[in-house]
Amino acid sequence: MTRLAVLVSGQGRNLQAILDALRDGRIPARAACIVSNRSAAPALDRARQAGVPAIVLEAEGRDRAAYDAALTAGLERHGVELIAMAGFMRVLSDGFIERWRGRMLNIHPSLLPRHTGLHTHRRVLDEGDPEHGASVHYVTEKLDGGPVVIQGRFTVGPQDDERTLAAKVMQDVELKIFPQALAWCARGELRCDGARVLFRGRALAAPLGLEDLEPAFR
Ligand code: GRF
Repeated sequence: MTRLAVLVSGQGRNLQAILDALRDGRIPARAACIVSNRSAAPALDRARQAGVPAIVLEAEGRDRAAYDAALTAGLERHGVELIAMAGFMRVLSDGFIERWRGRMLNIHPSLLPRHTGLHTHRRVLDEGDPEHGASVHYVTEKLDGGPVVIQGRFTVGPQDDERTLAAKVMQDVELKIFPQALAWCARGELRCDGARVLFRGRALAAPLGLEDLEPAFR
């Protein structure tokens, strides 16, 4: 079975959804390890609870190349084949991205290519976007710019504020689309071929959506 690593920095709600899907077999993979760049990340408790090896790798005193080399060494030690970036708040070096090309998925809280980077909910409100959501994409050298696999979207209402948008993005979208995308990867149904996403052998013309979720991920 595919050996999956999850990279985290924070609360780990996405991590928990992934761990739950691994445990009940919806993602046919093994949790090889969890890596956090923050020793205080609540996500680490979730890893320990699930009995998955947790690695804390803080940046202190290391430059980016040294950090990423240590990260790759840790992942290789655990035999990792697939990486889920679930709220990992570090920019990765080009060398790291090359090493793991086509094997690394990230979740981002916006409808990419809109709103790369931080504070996406605030920017949706400031710019009066009619819709908001989240995206799972392959990681490339372009920050939040790799090929998008699946997006979930919803209409922004007049009552929405940053808090309600954040809750909807997490509950209604992220916690569904990330485990689903990882399940497709683990089954060998999803691949990245340069700029294109191949789903069940065919290049996607547009990202998949909530309507494509299998019943087990809805
Ligand atoms: C998510 O909104 C993710 O999209 C963003 O960071 C947040 C992580 O939350 N990159 P959690 O750690 O999964 O609770």
